[in-house]
Amino acid sequence: MHSFKTTLLSAFLLLCSSTHVHAGALDTSSHCGDYDSVTAGQYVLGLDQWGKSDASSGSSCAAITSFDGTTIAWKNPWKWAGGYNVKSYTNIQLNNGLNKPLQTISSIPTTWKWSQSTSGSVVADVAFDLFTSATPGGSNHNEIMIWLANFSSGPISYSYSASGNAVAFANSIPLAGYTWNLYVGTNGYNNVYSFLPSNGTIITKFGGDLNVFIKYLTGSGSISSSEYLTTLQAGTEATSGTATFRTSAYSVVIN
Ligand SMILES: *[C@@H]1O[C@H](CO)[C@@H](O)[C@H](O)[C@H]1NC(C)=O
Ligand SMILES: *[C@@H]1O[C@H](CO)[C@@H](O)[C@H](O)[C@H]1NC(C)=O
Repeated sequence: MHSFKTTLLSAFLLLCSSTHVHAGALDTSSHCGDYDSVTAGQYVLGLDQWGKSDASSGSSCAAITSFDGTTIAWKNPWKWAGGYNVKSYTNIQLNNGLNKPLQTISSIPTTWKWSQSTSGSVVADVAFDLFTSATPGGSNHNEIMIWLANFSSGPISYSYSASGNAVAFANSIPLAGYTWNLYVGTNGYNNVYSFLPSNGTIITKFGGDLNVFIKYLTGSGSISSSEYLTTLQAGTEATSGTATFRTSAYSVVIN
């Protein structure tokens, strides 16, 4: 009798919790706070308006538009005026499978389909942003950026041409079906390795293995393969202008 009641109670609780997950859990409302974040399964939508004080005016808001357990979609209308620095990096962060040594990662398959509508010209990029550290969850040591679009912006680099353009550290590297130039520099806190499409093409549908970029850097001795992957994000760094950035499908997993 007692055990029957307990079983009935657990079945009831299970029903309640699964109903809760389906009915109320996904927050699709718009968030505009500097560091607002919204969790959906293994992903977190983060506003990250770290450079906002450089703007004379503006705002950035974001909302999750769909999530099915592996694939997430979001939108990010933003508007920034003034200053030359990045104002916000609205991104989706993966919170599963992190803090493994790079040498134990076998693949990081990802797909990302996005679009951007603008009013006038914008300065922005669309990029994956990964960080590695000497210890699990430790401070940032190396940053790996994979840019899918450069809208009148540019990567951090140690060397610049007379006209002020960043000079690549290595050119025409074939990875994940595209050809990339690699820029190397520092942001004052960590090394920054940025891969940009060599011919300036904008990749609005990316499908590939992010681990090939990590392997390129560990294979060339730039980053130690015993470092830990601590952060994996995808989003848009907005500097100035008015745009609505939309992702219709994004998924990533660390194997
Ligand atoms: C990024 O775009 C700007 C404007 O089109 C261009 O001047 C610059 O050279 C580009 N940077 C890279 C590294 O491709
Ligand atoms: C730019 O390079 C990509 C491969 O990285 C290629 O698919 C594309 O056709 C190239 N575009 C132009 C205009 O050369």
